[in-house]
Amino acid sequence: MAESFILNDTLTDEEKYLSISDYLTGLIDKDNYILTNLSNFIAVLKQSFEKISWIGFYIFDGKELVLGPFQGKVACTKIEIGKGVCGNSFKEKRTLIVPDVNQYPGHIACDAESKSEIVVPLINGNRIFGVLDIDSYKFNSFNELDKNYLEMICDSLLKKVYIDKFIIS
Ligand code: SME
Repeated sequence: MAESFILNDTLTDEEKYLSISDYLTGLIDKDNYILTNLSNFIAVLKQSFEKISWIGFYIFDGKELVLGPFQGKVACTKIEIGKGVCGNSFKEKRTLIVPDVNQYPGHIACDAESKSEIVVPLINGNRIFGVLDIDSYKFNSFNELDKNYLEMICDSLLKKVYIDKFIIS
């Protein structure tokens, strides 16, 4: 059983990511169900950062991106490759930071209150499994520090968890 994970509010974002990274090492277990690992992964991030309004996975089903485990309001169920921030991050295989979603051509607004966003592709070697999408109700919520640490913890996740398209089919 996992111990509770509570971060002190006075920590900097960097200190939070370091604690999260340590905690995920124990929490994410390759013997757990994939959905268990993915759900706990996003729960840890959501409960650690007030700036996150929505966080979730979009998994590639072989054709498009399909909504996976998430926390937040009801969201779009499918995203075409090359559409929106998620579809472009997947297509370009790189993290996209969007300081103001209103300025991003083709942004898909699942929640009209969303102001900024970061999308990290889930890549392991030459395979891409989907994206991690994070939204905020504030402009400019995400920067290079978020990008670096999110890429690092996604990388660690993918070293333990093989995200198969069959989890969403
Ligand atoms: N804004 C995303 C769509 C997903 S929702 O934010 C949950 C996009 O433009 O791809």
